[in-house]
Amino acid sequence: MGLFHRSGGYTIFIPEIDAEHRTMFRLVDELATALDSGTPRARNEALQSIVSQMQLHFAHEERLMRDSRYDAFAWHKGQHDGARRQAKRFIKRIEEGDRKAGAEMLQYLAGWLQNHIPVTDRMMAAYLRNFERRRAA
Ligand SMILES: [Fe+2]
Ligand SMILES: [Fe+2]
Repeated sequence: MGLFHRSGGYTIFIPEIDAEHRTMFRLVDELATALDSGTPRARNEALQSIVSQMQLHFAHEERLMRDSRYDAFAWHKGQHDGARRQAKRFIKRIEEGDRKAGAEMLQYLAGWLQNHIPVTDRMMAAYLRNFERRRAA
């Protein structure tokens, strides 16, 4: 269902990160439902959930990259920062009563995840797996 092409390409083979991505997909779908048919309160809760999950998840990846001295860290974090900034802008518009902002935020997040995970997160994951292998050897 929903906003994602589920045909694959989202698995990056780091189980805890994959689980966090699945949670984000689910929360995006829940936000879609809440925007479509939810009460204002349900909408707010769905927004809060996706934003806080996003913050936790980005911080987690950034910790893993920093701890392993990933050389593309700045580039990767730059993409996270872009999404953080956009999310903040959307939330502000929603709070100001802009009726289009919720749906636009949803499209933005879905598109962002679909671009970021298969490329940027996958590159990070390949590096992290190698890093772990070298460390274990
Ligand atoms: Fe990422
Ligand atoms: Fe990610």
